[in-house]
Amino acid sequence: MRFFLDTANVNEIREAASLGVIYGVTTNPTLVSKEGRDFKETIMEITSIVDGPISAEVVSLEAEGMVKEALEIAAWHPNIVIKIPIIWEGLKAVSQLSKKGIKTNVTLVFNPNQALLAARAGATYVSPFVGRFTDISQDGIALISDIAEIFSIHDIHTQIIAASIRTPMDVINAAKAGADIATVPYKVLQQMIKHPLTDIGVEKFLEDWKKVPKRA
Ligand code: E4P
Repeated sequence: MRFFLDTANVNEIREAASLGVIYGVTTNPTLVSKEGRDFKETIMEITSIVDGPISAEVVSLEAEGMVKEALEIAAWHPNIVIKIPIIWEGLKAVSQLSKKGIKTNVTLVFNPNQALLAARAGATYVSPFVGRFTDISQDGIALISDIAEIFSIHDIHTQIIAASIRTPMDVINAAKAGADIATVPYKVLQQMIKHPLTDIGVEKFLEDWKKVPKRA
């Protein structure tokens, strides 16, 4: 499983990218709005930091408007992936865009039928939302494993992005469930590397190192 960073904050992206584990970035209108910056300027700066798939979302609700927005955004940089919600009109847009060779990330997926339809329309990625599904007492990880099972049985190559990740355990469970990618918020990335025994171990090594005789 690969990692995307789920943010539009360029400072977080720059710092996370320096770890060498971030393959791409996902944004959405909420994440972009938090930055208080121009959309294009934000996305372009992200493409200059991470050389991988960068998802940018359209906001039209009709296929014609989605395709128009998508063609404009996709022309900004070759790494841009167009994020489209799994609605009737969204499916039409995905199918038109895939015929033009434009990569899409179908978002707001909450059941395997939505994922299957998106895949058959030519989506490059589908984004099942683990956290938001779990918030309403549903099993977000079962959603990932159901989609992974169906895609495997039918030899579908659309990649599964585990989205709406809230905790490090979501990441482990999404990996076990067969997600191709987890898109993680910066805070979760920081939490993933932490372990109290690692901190205690580092402190002990440093203390013991002081006791090693050193030649002047
Ligand atoms: C990413 O593609 C999604 O838009 C994002 O993970 C949603 O996360 P949230 O449910 O925490 O807003």
